[in-house]
Amino acid sequence: MRITVCPSATAASARAVRRIAAALHRDPSLVLSLPTGRTPIEVYDGLARLVARGRLDFSRAVTFNLDEFVGLAPDDPRSYRAFMGRHLFDRVGLPRRRAHVLDGAARDLAGECARFERAIEAAGGIDLSLVGIGLNGHVGFNEPGPGLVAATHRVKLTSLTRRANAKPFGGDPRRVPREALTMGIGTILGARRIVLLATGRSKARVVRRSIAGPVTTWLPASFLQLHADVEFVLDRDAASRLG
Ligand code: GLP
Repeated sequence: MRITVCPSATAASARAVRRIAAALHRDPSLVLSLPTGRTPIEVYDGLARLVARGRLDFSRAVTFNLDEFVGLAPDDPRSYRAFMGRHLFDRVGLPRRRAHVLDGAARDLAGECARFERAIEAAGGIDLSLVGIGLNGHVGFNEPGPGLVAATHRVKLTSLTRRANAKPFGGDPRRVPREALTMGIGTILGARRIVLLATGRSKARVVRRSIAGPVTTWLPASFLQLHADVEFVLDRDAASRLG
């Protein structure tokens, strides 16, 4: 496990941009997995800037998003698909057929999860996975609990997660969908390389427990300790509780 502490959130994002850009330069048909949330926004801005300057090309890349809310159609502005369109896909010219996001409005949700797993396999697996971390240690939407599911699946969201995701729902956690679809922890660990990006003091405690605590299903991010090529990219605030 590598831990990189950067002086600011902007510097941490720039580090993640460099990792992704270097990988994409080496392999233009790179298979990426991508998160949503506040944390990766600066990364997506940085990637979009490189594309605008003609220094990066996403036309052959393939992406898989970590998760999506159940019940939101892909064109719902509050969906993660729409978030990704606004922040990355539309800005870097990623063709829709190469940008895979689970369809939370699919009639057969179990079938949708199975289809997603098959698509990852057909793409040759995930080369590089950028992940964030929830305040309770979730990765994607793999919530803490007595067990974790390995493959992509349907999940019930905790009230903390619904609160943390309330902004696009008028700030009202009760309007946040109760369920989501998420890549499973096994699918996430199947990526060849993982970069976890965490910034801000609110993440300091969960970052410390993920890196230095025991591997436990009560803290899904702790499972990243089992991966052979994982880098935690942190700003000083997120790293402030590391010994
Ligand atoms: C959501 C997403 C996660 C993300 C987390 C952290 O719950 N499902 O993939 O890592 O939020 O979000 P933020 O970066 O806004 O703290």
